[in-house]
Amino acid sequence: MKITVLPGDGIGPEIVEQALAVLEAVGRRTGLDFEFSEALIGGVAVDAAGTPLPEATVEACRASDAVLLGAVGGPKWDDLEPALRPEKGLLGIRKALGLFANLRPAALFPQLRSACLLRPDIVARGVDLVVVRELTGGVYFGEPRGMEERDGERVGFNNMIYRESEVRRIARVGFETAARRAKRLCSVDKANVLEVSRLWRKVVEEVAADYPEVELSHLYVDNAAMQLVRDPSQFDVLVTGNLFGDILSDEAAVITGSIGMLPSASLGESGPGLYEPIHGSAPRKAGQDRANPLATILSAAMMLRYSLGREQEARMIEDAVERTLEQGLRTGDIMQDGCRLVGCREMGRAVAGNV
Ligand code: IPM
Ligand code: MG
Repeated sequence: MKITVLPGDGIGPEIVEQALAVLEAVGRRTGLDFEFSEALIGGVAVDAAGTPLPEATVEACRASDAVLLGAVGGPKWDDLEPALRPEKGLLGIRKALGLFANLRPAALFPQLRSACLLRPDIVARGVDLVVVRELTGGVYFGEPRGMEERDGERVGFNNMIYRESEVRRIARVGFETAARRAKRLCSVDKANVLEVSRLWRKVVEEVAADYPEVELSHLYVDNAAMQLVRDPSQFDVLVTGNLFGDILSDEAAVITGSIGMLPSASLGESGPGLYEPIHGSAPRKAGQDRANPLATILSAAMMLRYSLGREQEARMIEDAVERTLEQGLRTGDIMQDGCRLVGCREMGRAVAGNV
């Protein structure tokens, strides 16, 4: 199985190293043969090749079974022009591979209950949801976009635009995901204000006809943000556009204890999927062996499940993570009383050992 590895910037290389160690442990136990090859993306690619997404990286990704990514970005590259920013590399590879569906599961590990930010009576009801975020359209990519001078002052503008075909295909992923879980799908939009959201809602309702077993609801995004902290147990699957999904998935992540725990899968109609933690490059933690590698390790599990069709091996990793938490190992972001503080490396080794 050919895996292209894009460590990227900041803590990216450290967390990816641990995920690879865990995959290697899976390989030793099961005989699965992984072939890893590294490529450049983000700030390190700007430094080495003058662009955040070299063509060679796109080609390597296209020729592989799956892509595992760390994180991109950092203060060093913050003042570059928009086309050279590390984030452009990430947006570019999502677009180039046609990865329109981003699955971001947010579940509360029982061992981390006390790290959850919500009141115990709310936590008791549990958190187990998936944000299905549209990833290659909406205001992130809409044209026209720009910054210019009009009537003697600067204006910045973007365009939130969805074609019905784009809404339909992500709605299908939402329904399919819900059909395999608790069969409740909540579509999030801003249809009380935005035309693009009114179309979104109509198309989602049309697709619903094909999934009578799934219960569909709609929420405005402001209400959804509020409901997520008020009672996340009401949600099974949320489906939403690119920007709303970006925001809501950070919120969903942090209420489970730490953004350092949440994996993601980005999938297209066909071709390789891309797997990455939902958190960023945490430049201030970089190189200090303090990062939490679990979101990346859990992303590797998603890779086994969705791109490689290896459900059992995916479970193996997820069980090993749970066992490691059970053993009381914690990185700083999820540290609790009575647990043992460990670094990125020790956490990764422990999970690999448990595999
Ligand atoms: C994410 C990140 C990215 C996004 C950034 C780094 C471009 O926040 O994956 O959620 O906005 O999609
Ligand atoms: Mg984000």
